[in-house]
Amino acid sequence: MLEKIQETADFLKKKISTRPKTGIILGTGLGNLVTELTDKTEIPYETIPNFPVSTVEGHSGKLIVGKLGGVDVLAMQGRFHYYEGYDMKQVTFPVRVMKALGIETLLVSNAAGGMNPGFEIGDLMIITDHINLFPEHPLRGKNNPAMGTRFPDMSEAYSKELIEKAKDIAHENKIRVVEGVYVGTSGPTFETPAEYKYFRIIGGDAVGMSTVPEVIVANHAGIKVFGMSIITDLGVEGKIVEVSHEEVQEIGNKAQPLMTTIMKELVKRI
Ligand code: HPA
Repeated sequence: MLEKIQETADFLKKKISTRPKTGIILGTGLGNLVTELTDKTEIPYETIPNFPVSTVEGHSGKLIVGKLGGVDVLAMQGRFHYYEGYDMKQVTFPVRVMKALGIETLLVSNAAGGMNPGFEIGDLMIITDHINLFPEHPLRGKNNPAMGTRFPDMSEAYSKELIEKAKDIAHENKIRVVEGVYVGTSGPTFETPAEYKYFRIIGGDAVGMSTVPEVIVANHAGIKVFGMSIITDLGVEGKIVEVSHEEVQEIGNKAQPLMTTIMKELVKRI
């Protein structure tokens, strides 16, 4: 696998003239961050050797290298979800490539359903920790020590330092943020009321279908992580209504400017 990662990284190094240290996975909530990038080089996924191609509606696929508030970043517009049929090595391949390109910090975003009764639709949640409920582990299989240790520590999967900085930024900009534990599940079904209840009981504040595999691999690779969710619907007893992908996207779009503000400022303080 290391050869494939290297091949992809070598291809990308030839295409880009900067060496960003911050990577961003533009999930729901950060789509419009692209418009804030200057000096852009865009590389469609289908032109990148060994890269899977994104299929899900509402997610286009390209790597974008540019400056965000003057700082060099490497952004992934469109991620690979496990529910699309990719295996975990494919889902997390871009994170390995980021590591090979010199990325030291990864910022991720997603849409999630909130189980915490204190949450409101449209809230921004800083991810403080996660619970991995995916049926396949991204690190299962032979471990290559050159890529990370066999049994990675996960006691601070989400950088406490970055969480504090993000809270400061939110406070300074009068943006309401909540904090919580993200439960990662395979999807593609949204949860039954009983499942939301179960995820709450085991310690979750929000649930979604992404992020956890990438965060595990980033930790394995020694990349610092910061993540945020947009709470697009509520899995709280008495407040559960029908949810659709369209609604998730609509709420996600509305909350975008606030999340973008936080991430843009955070990149400068890393
Ligand atoms: N469950 C799982 N994934 C989601 C949800 C949800 O309620 N909302 C947005 N993504």
